Amino acid sequence: MAELIEAAIAARLHARAPYSNFQVGAAIEDEHGRIFTGCNIENATYGLTMCAERVAVFKAISEGAGKIVRVVVVADTEVLTPPCGACRQILWEFCGEAELTLANLHGQRETLSMRDIFPRPFDASFL
Ligand code: THU
Repeated sequence: MAELIEAAIAARLHARAPYSNFQVGAAIEDEHGRIFTGCNIENATYGLTMCAERVAVFKAISEGAGKIVRVVVVADTEVLTPPCGACRQILWEFCGEAELTLANLHGQRETLSMRDIFPRPFDASFL
């Protein structure tokens, strides 16, 4: 877990967040121990901004990740930063049973399940 948090902290340093000045890092571990990372990437049109979590998930999938077992999100906030609504939907789809850890730069962390933060999801079971 320490390694995964370190990976998210390192990825956060690559954040492109000139508009919000709010840098986020994410790291994902698959069943084989492979780690994939992401940072938020903003755009002048604002709406095209991509969150760190989604960058990490899409990188993982595009690089052939196995089942995702752990997700870490890091931001520099006192109250640990949770994934936004859009990211919860994506995380549920691709990392549903994964353990989700929120962390900050001061060593605080909290581990949750996706069910904790995303009750009653809309997903493939409805289709
Ligand atoms: N952001 C993330 O990358 N992940 C989150 O979980 C919350 C928000 C980014 C999007 C935007 O670049 C900035 O943080 C402020 O919303």
